[in-house]
Amino acid sequence: MKISKAIEERRSIRKFTSQTVDRSILLSLIRAGALAPSASNAQFWRFIVADNQDLVRKLDLYCPGMSGKPTAIIVIASDLEEVASKGSKNSIEYGCMMDASMAAENIILQALEFGLGTCVIKSYNDGAVRKLLGIPDTLRIEILISVGYPDGEPRERKRKDLDQILQWNGWNTSDTEGK
Ligand SMILES: Cc1cc2nc3c(=O)[nH]c(=O)nc-3n(C[C@H](O)[C@H](O)[C@H](O)COP(=O)(O)O)c2cc1C
Repeated sequence: MKISKAIEERRSIRKFTSQTVDRSILLSLIRAGALAPSASNAQFWRFIVADNQDLVRKLDLYCPGMSGKPTAIIVIASDLEEVASKGSKNSIEYGCMMDASMAAENIILQALEFGLGTCVIKSYNDGAVRKLLGIPDTLRIEILISVGYPDGEPRERKRKDLDQILQWNGWNTSDTEGK
């Protein structure tokens, strides 16, 4: 799949069929995530994948932001012990989260090639997710991604016009060519 097509077609999916996702495919998604750029190439990220259906259902219960019964859930966390030994204050404050977001984007785009739908989830109960997956305090959960085969069409896409968000050669300049 061409990158431009993947970017154009990706939508947050909030309704999934009951078809489970092969572990080999989930592995490809994680490989894609781990190929994302990270600050100083530190790769503080850790990936925890839930594909046991009982576990996925339980996790789902503690994620108010998750909808549509996904069949797999990917948790991206940061290893705070490694950050403490090799990272900086910036890594803790925002670097790890940005790296996790980069990995997440790779994962959700790669998923399209397998006909999968995904949704990035920030609304979850950290304590419950931690407990269900045995995630220690040394890992900070950054983001979750629900994964599954889409059931139906996603919502209509809404985006701001480029006029509202793009400026050339500085903010509030008179350079409007290409607008
Ligand atoms: C950091 C982040 C957190 C998000 N958290 C949630 C969430 O908890 N629940 C949800 O349904 N969607 C969540 N989303 C998905 C956004 O709502 C979605 O990307 C946005 O509405 C644009 O729609 P699109 O992804 O289909 O283009 C999140 C997206 C991002 C980037």
